[in-house]
Amino acid sequence: MLALAFSASIAGIDAHVVRVETDSAAGVPHFAIVGLPDRALNESRERVRSAIVNSGFGFPPGRLLVNLAPADMRKEGVGFDLPIALALLATDEQIPSTALRPFVVCGELALDGSLRAVPGVLAMALAARAAGFRQLVVPEANRDEATLVDGIDVYAVPTLADAVAVALGHGAPFRRRGTTVLAPTDREGVGDFADVRGQTLAKRALEIAAAGGHNVVLVGPPGCGKTMLARRVPSILPAMTIPEALDVTKVYSIAGLLGPSPRVVAIRPFRAPHHTASRVSLVGGGTQPRPGEISLAQHGVLYLDELAEFSRATLEVLRQPLEEGTVTIARAAGTHTFPARFTLVASMNPCPCGFRGVRGSDCRCDDGVVQRYLGKLSGPLLDRIDLHVSVSRVSFDELVQRGAGDSSATIRSRVEAARNLQKQRFGEASPGTNAGIAAADVRRFCELEGDALALLEGAASRGALSARAFDRIARVARTIADLAQSPRIVRAHVAEALVYRANPGRNAA
Ligand SMILES: Nc1ncnc2c1ncn2[C@@H]1O[C@H](COP(=O)(O)OP(=O)(O)OP(=O)(O)O)[C@@H](O)[C@H]1O
Ligand SMILES: [Mg+2]
Ligand SMILES: [Zn+2]
Repeated sequence: MLALAFSASIAGIDAHVVRVETDSAAGVPHFAIVGLPDRALNESRERVRSAIVNSGFGFPPGRLLVNLAPADMRKEGVGFDLPIALALLATDEQIPSTALRPFVVCGELALDGSLRAVPGVLAMALAARAAGFRQLVVPEANRDEATLVDGIDVYAVPTLADAVAVALGHGAPFRRRGTTVLAPTDREGVGDFADVRGQTLAKRALEIAAAGGHNVVLVGPPGCGKTMLARRVPSILPAMTIPEALDVTKVYSIAGLLGPSPRVVAIRPFRAPHHTASRVSLVGGGTQPRPGEISLAQHGVLYLDELAEFSRATLEVLRQPLEEGTVTIARAAGTHTFPARFTLVASMNPCPCGFRGVRGSDCRCDDGVVQRYLGKLSGPLLDRIDLHVSVSRVSFDELVQRGAGDSSATIRSRVEAARNLQKQRFGEASPGTNAGIAAADVRRFCELEGDALALLEGAASRGALSARAFDRIARVARTIADLAQSPRIVRAHVAEALVYRANPGRNAA
């Protein structure tokens, strides 16, 4: 007879509810799965057969057909084992056919009938709730992740037999104690901005970057503190909202990075891939596409140290995510889109030896070599970096000086105040931060008048600013005004924004 179970399939970082329909007919024993299964699903047949038998149930006789619907959606993953097994038992009337209706079910079966964790359960729980389901059956190892979603009862079971018991009305849903704890912004080990001596300009640029979500590049000689500064950026980022935290957690869930007792990822990500990292690890991909570093940096920071050492091809693939906040991975079987809205923080030397333009040092590099080095950073890439900062070495006096600048906590409170103004400006809708204001909206949100406008127009006529550069400065000026809690952008804000306009390499001090 016909039977039906519900499960969910991952596409990108979201999941969709899938119908698992089974039917049996008399005839020569045969077991087929249709509905665009991938290789894992075919292997699923063997696991399902063994798990059913080894759990003490009878494997249904005759011709068995499993159809995963909708057929046009590609199904990924091993999570269909459990719903297929349950639906087959219902087909065979070992459990009542209506017993499975209220549940969305997922889990990989081992041959002995025990259940293994599957990736993406958080997204599945969200999809199940969105589709109107109130009950979810998952492997025990996925329990904590599934219970992050409110409004749906989670049955976390160790074996197929336990899942059958749940379908028969036994067993109680797991109750999370208290509400989801969003860990406070625990930034242990990050270090404080107060540790960095001098570097007032670079610190200020990073504060602006954090406040407005602007991309930033630090350029300077070896040992001046670029890496030290960049690694402290997480200490001044604003706390994440709950929807942002769930977004980030979904990405980590699908990447399989949530660990054994997952919690909501409550700290803005800071990802620092090495310049030798493969393209797949950076942008995502693989046979079962997994998000890469740029997606793991969602709502946080992607830090590219030694930017000019990354391959030209790698830097090129950053263009789409920098522009659109997403990355599309094309595969033979179709395309996958992952979120990738991050703030880019980059650092680099002004030339291969690192000393070009540094007072009191000699650069040993050929002009041609320097040109090739900087040439890798194409115009379109640099064009998406709002803040270009040249960092110089701090003097010995500055290094030994007591009482450096503001602490990270002080800076972060200014950043959060500026973000609150942006929240009022944009509401819940995009762009979220000033850096994301669309070109068409720059005039409206970054209104320049009087001498503020005159200053920028003057700079534009002298320096031949492109329209894009003009907009970029206006957005940065908007953030500087927000940091000053000023509704209007005034001349001083534009003047400061113009400081961060220079080309890398041209002006290392
Ligand atoms: N402004 C500073 N205040 C305090 N310490 C500093 C400062 N600049 C450099 N240092 C010290 O020098 C070390 C090296 O700095 P860092 O690695 O950040 O330099 P860098 O600019 O990234 O150099 P490179 O171009 O070689 O990567 C730091 O770990 C720190 O101990
Ligand atoms: Mg460094
Ligand atoms: Zn050099």
